[in-house]
Amino acid sequence: VRPFVALPLLALLALARCNGGGADPGAPAPRPAPAPDPLAPLHAFEDARRATTDFAHLPASSHALGPDPYVIRALPAVSAPARYAGLLRGRDALVLLDGSLHEIARAAAPGSPSGLAVSPNGEILVAGEEAEAIRRYRADGGHLTEAGEIALPGALALRDVAVGPEKAIYAVEERRGRLFAIAEHGDRQEIAAGTGAFRVDRAGDRVIADSLLDHTLSLYPVDARGMPIEERVIRIHNDGPIWSFAAAERGGDLFVLAGGVEDHPLDRTGGSFGFIDSFVSLYRVQKGAAAAERLGSINVSAEGLITPKAMSLRAGDHGLTAIVAGYGADKLLTLTWGVDPAAPPSIAASTLVPGVSSIAPADGGGMVFADPLLDVWMKLAPGDKEPSIVPAEDPGGQARSPQSRLGEALFFTNLMAPWNQSLDRLSRFTCETCHFEGYADGRIHHTGRGDVHATTKPLLGLFNNRPHFSRALDPDLTTVANNEFRVAGALSGHDPWFTAPVADLPWAARIGAPPEDLGPEGLRRALMAFLMDFTHRPNPAAIGRTAFSDLERRGADAFAARCEGCHAARLASDVPGSRAPREQWEALIFSREGPLVWGIAEYKKTGIEPYVNEKGARVPSLRRLYKKRPYFTNGTAADLEGVLDRARFGPAGAFLHDKAPAEYQPLDAAEKQAIRAFLDLL
Ligand code: HEC
Ligand code: HEC
Repeated sequence: VRPFVALPLLALLALARCNGGGADPGAPAPRPAPAPDPLAPLHAFEDARRATTDFAHLPASSHALGPDPYVIRALPAVSAPARYAGLLRGRDALVLLDGSLHEIARAAAPGSPSGLAVSPNGEILVAGEEAEAIRRYRADGGHLTEAGEIALPGALALRDVAVGPEKAIYAVEERRGRLFAIAEHGDRQEIAAGTGAFRVDRAGDRVIADSLLDHTLSLYPVDARGMPIEERVIRIHNDGPIWSFAAAERGGDLFVLAGGVEDHPLDRTGGSFGFIDSFVSLYRVQKGAAAAERLGSINVSAEGLITPKAMSLRAGDHGLTAIVAGYGADKLLTLTWGVDPAAPPSIAASTLVPGVSSIAPADGGGMVFADPLLDVWMKLAPGDKEPSIVPAEDPGGQARSPQSRLGEALFFTNLMAPWNQSLDRLSRFTCETCHFEGYADGRIHHTGRGDVHATTKPLLGLFNNRPHFSRALDPDLTTVANNEFRVAGALSGHDPWFTAPVADLPWAARIGAPPEDLGPEGLRRALMAFLMDFTHRPNPAAIGRTAFSDLERRGADAFAARCEGCHAARLASDVPGSRAPREQWEALIFSREGPLVWGIAEYKKTGIEPYVNEKGARVPSLRRLYKKRPYFTNGTAADLEGVLDRARFGPAGAFLHDKAPAEYQPLDAAEKQAIRAFLDLL
């Protein structure tokens, strides 16, 4: 036996010496140490961060992720030098930019602004999530001046605004999915456009609203005043979300280009994610037609462009031209259709940087872009190979750590799975393909396990809400980060324990991450650091308020009696001692952070079947419920009324969300109404 063991022992001794062990040759040979746990330093990092984090005051991410240039629009060139208006979503500001995208003026905007429109006479309109009004501005002689506002009482979470040639103004509200139209002389109209309505635009004689969670574009013809005619709506539907659209009219035909996820259910049979490439599809509504026809679809992931969130479309006599930018990768595509729009377009690709959320035609040709991922404005002049990139000014803003910025890039770009392919079921995607802006996609995905389906959950607010997933099998963020690297690149055949291929992704250098962050451990740490910063945005229903209404107070009391045993008012889901007593709820709910989790780190069986785990499902957080629909893991409740209608109370404190025996008692109408009002505030 001896000769066989001698060699490894010698080799070990040699190794010990190489490592500076300096072993005494006479001493007994050391035993091989157990392989060190490569995740141990990440666990230590997470534990240390948790130990020093005050979850009651962890700032809302709306201001924590940089200035976030979110939208850019050209101002009409009335013999003046070129000017652009832009929104800094992370600084609640409207800025005026000169022709080379340098800031020349700034004005306070409604909180969390994401909607910007410019009327033909140069009036600027801004909508934000935190104000129940559209604010008007004028840009005169290098200054921005406020010029009043259009109040929209009760419109919580306004996301976008548009203006038509008849001077009608349109706005969409994400929370209740409403489209508002305001005619020039003040007439108003309100339409239920669809769940999660977040984008609106006007093209030809149509106003178009995009509903993220309904996966629908709604096209309304307008009357002579520009007001939408609700009953003549035409809808374009996709299996998953439509992140962007652009429309143009030619000869009475309307062309609509829509950018979204592949029109196919998710396929998880391969252990990763299949059929979730990014696509753009061209539709036509012929003059007088009652429906839109899909003329063709292009797999843009196959061209290297992921999550198209910004596009433009122009219709000329000889065809159509579209420019499409992606958030998830560094490609810009120009698509050109000839006279026959049903024939495939020619595709020209060029290189940009990822993170584009808005695009506008530049003065003198070319395009300008807003990029909240890299916090820059960009301009691509005709004939330019490279864009000129201008960092958004951020006076007084706190510099973010390169680590958290790198984590944001991992989340929102192909940096996490750079070797993915886009063939058949294989897909090039990012986390955002299902978690739009980190929240949800309104889909009920097959999990690949039996008949278990799962609604997508928000990824904001994970830090104080562990363990993760409905099955609760990821105990902490270290496990999440490590597993997501494995799943994201599972079908690429590449080792998930990789160093960032920065030579192939030159834009990544803009993040300024040191080399130690770019190795396998550093990348996971960066993703974790970002997820720790990625807290929920303020709740538009609670912002700016300090006290419950009578109805909400009754709702809080009913919730305390009926629901809080499971959906506990904890600051950390797994720390029972972090529970806030009832008398503190009001102050915490009406703080900007709205930090209470309303969930616990335990499983319960509540009739939502099939159970994802033999013990049931993890009691989920109820924060920012309006961002997630449908409800329950299996997606069987379309809205909160649907949740409350089915709740049943049995003997000895028994509770079921569904499938309760007949003798169980429902909530009465008054309690339902009050709890409903309370849930809105979480
Ligand atoms: C194909 C769609 C899809 C993609 C892509 C996707 N997710 Fe998810 N994600 C889901 C669904 C569906 C759920 C809900 C699963 C459940 O209920 O357990 C979920 C849940 C999660 C959760 C658990 C949240 C919680 O509250 O417990 C985490 C963490 C997560 N995803 C991280 C990621 C990350 C990171 C990425 C990018 C690498 C990603 N996901 C990409 C569909 C997706
Ligand atoms: C016995 C514990 C328990 C009680 C009591 C309870 N819930 Fe739940 N709740 C759960 C569990 C577990 C789930 C997740 C079930 C699933 O989707 O798989 C859930 C899910 C939900 C959801 C869906 C969340 C989402 O992200 O889809 C809402 C909303 C909700 N509960 C509200 C309430 C309200 C309101 C009450 C009081 C009337 C209540 N719950 C009482 C355990 C409970």
